[in-house]
Amino acid sequence: MKLRPNRLAGRARGLLFAALAALGTGCGETRYPMDTFSPKSDLAERIQSLYIQVTLWDLLVFIIVVGIFAAALGWFSTRVGEPGEASDVESDLRLEIAWTVIPALILLAITVPTVRTVLSTQPSTWSKDALTVEVIGHQWWWEFRYPSEGLTTADEAHLPQNRLIHFQLISADVIHSFWVPALGGKRDVVPGQTNQITLVPKVPGMYYGQCAEYCGDSHANMRFRVFVDTPEGFKRWIAHEKQGPATPKGGPAAEGAAIWANAPCAICHTIRGISGFSPQYQGSFRGPDLTHFGSRTTLAGSILDNTPEHVAAWIENPDRLKPGVYMPNLGVKPEEASKLAAYLESLK
Ligand code: CUA
Repeated sequence: MKLRPNRLAGRARGLLFAALAALGTGCGETRYPMDTFSPKSDLAERIQSLYIQVTLWDLLVFIIVVGIFAAALGWFSTRVGEPGEASDVESDLRLEIAWTVIPALILLAITVPTVRTVLSTQPSTWSKDALTVEVIGHQWWWEFRYPSEGLTTADEAHLPQNRLIHFQLISADVIHSFWVPALGGKRDVVPGQTNQITLVPKVPGMYYGQCAEYCGDSHANMRFRVFVDTPEGFKRWIAHEKQGPATPKGGPAAEGAAIWANAPCAICHTIRGISGFSPQYQGSFRGPDLTHFGSRTTLAGSILDNTPEHVAAWIENPDRLKPGVYMPNLGVKPEEASKLAAYLESLK
């Protein structure tokens, strides 16, 4: 691809902005939600320290090269108009050895800690009290399963602070990439293969995630959120998720529940005890588990805030909000969509 000047200027501005952002984050919290410079897990801290090491090596090389260059300008320059003496040096073995060995040593100094960090995130064994979280990439949303708890959720994962998390990464369709900048990563999610990544979240908070491998029309709309909870908060979340879905007491939510009971939504979406995803529809037909949909902050691959208006708009025409989406437009009328939205929001 050829870059036009205005694009080049745009890229240069982008780089400058990134550099300033990097400098700015040295002083603490950041306004940039996908910032990779404010680590919140052991893995992200190790990646940060690698980044600093490599930058320092680069800085050293830069200073040496620019220093020698500046010195050479002084040593070998002549007065204007006077020709310098021609060099008769054809080769210099010592120089050639030096410029082969030194870069090799620098590469080694960068490679060894990098490979060590990569390997540390995929150990062959891990401690028994690690929490296994299955991450399933779908076009275009994320499913999170907690096998030890028998729970499934979507788009928003909860993790306990200070506990080893063992992510098992599986794809339902094409190659995706699991990436939460504040917690480290990325790691590809490949069909027919289980990849893994282990980390210990250190700081409670909400962190943004994003699919980082082009995976079709709505790749950019394949976002997610990770909530790192205190150990007690995580226990509360698990206990809450284990409860069955709420039953609406009346009003539009109850009317929505009645519509749901006869609507095709139930083929693809599980609401535990109410509707179940039929195992005959594997792959792209599977939609997010909605048992506790109302307690999530976002929907549709975490691109929309979870409000009744957004849910109704989504049900009416999903493709308008997320191009290429597999959820079909079922021709739901606006008043029915808002009742369904009221029902889904009641599923706290
Ligand atoms: Cu999934 Cu990009």
